[in-house]
Amino acid sequence: MTKNEPGINDNEESFFKIQADIEAFEKDAALYEEQNFDNRLDAIDFLEFHIIDHIESLIKKAAQPDQLILLMQRAENIKLALEAIDNNMFKKLRAHIRSNGCTGEQFKKLLGKYIDFNAHGSDHEEAGYDNLDIFINGLLSPLTIPEQTTALEPEMVFYQKTPARIIFELVEMAFITKDDVFFDLGSGLGQASILVNLLAGAKAVGVEFEPAFCSYAGGCAVQLNLPNVSFINADARQADYSDGTVFLMYTPFNGEILQDVLAVLRKESLTRKIKIITYGPCTAQVASEGWLDITVSNNDNIYKPAVFTSI
Ligand SMILES: C[S@@+](CC[C@H](N)C(=O)[O-])C[C@H]1O[C@@H](n2cnc3c(N)ncnc32)[C@H](O)[C@@H]1O
Repeated sequence: MTKNEPGINDNEESFFKIQADIEAFEKDAALYEEQNFDNRLDAIDFLEFHIIDHIESLIKKAAQPDQLILLMQRAENIKLALEAIDNNMFKKLRAHIRSNGCTGEQFKKLLGKYIDFNAHGSDHEEAGYDNLDIFINGLLSPLTIPEQTTALEPEMVFYQKTPARIIFELVEMAFITKDDVFFDLGSGLGQASILVNLLAGAKAVGVEFEPAFCSYAGGCAVQLNLPNVSFINADARQADYSDGTVFLMYTPFNGEILQDVLAVLRKESLTRKIKIITYGPCTAQVASEGWLDITVSNNDNIYKPAVFTSI
């Protein structure tokens, strides 16, 4: 297209700027290298929200949109190519985990080739998600997410995923090792249990009220061939915790249900020391339990995890 062509006169500057951006993405060989996940994610985001959306709005205003449509196709093709690189990368990584059973340092080393998980800082003022979550979702949760099928009781909290950086953090904070048996109470789609198993080598059990979430989580563990990860479809008040040593609660319930579950855990603590990790508003209620010592405080920031140990 030349600058004199009709149909783009009002938006010439935008057109040539977009064209230059698209060319830059097409020529940026580094973007197409598998390990450049963070840059690719930024590029996909820019293509979607700054280029494709922008072209769409220009097309609506253009008398002769042909050149804009071609530009749109180029932008969409780049986006598809970049997404395909990520999908293949995740498939390859899953196959590696499946056949090599890679946990602990091996797992961190594998991830470290693609994403700097230490860059996803620890001082959060909100629960927000970041590139690490997108990476972990792509790696661990390849199946179609199911709809909720069962109504929750009033004190039960709806599903919301623990940010991945928090899981990395809590494994260190609570010193979880391969000798632990980790329970996620209200395990949702199962990511926390799977990730704790991969990061620490601990046996991990998720307890989830919603059957569809529970079977989804089990499917994800099977995809990765993780024999030490399992999910139980149960009310957390009724599950068997007899081998548990570390319990995570990302505020799965509150009020009396939380009180009842804490009473169950207290009974368990009479036979062995247990740790409870909390995240979210349930921390305050757990902190008031006399049978628990606070090992790592969240300093009244509900967006930081806290660790409690039974006395
Ligand atoms: C805030 S989400 C936590 C998700 C998960 N722990 C994670 O970090 O990704 C709360 C979950 O607890 C589940 N839940 C609520 N009440 C429950 C109960 N009494 N027993 C078991 N699960 C429950 C919900 O269905 C939901 O999936």
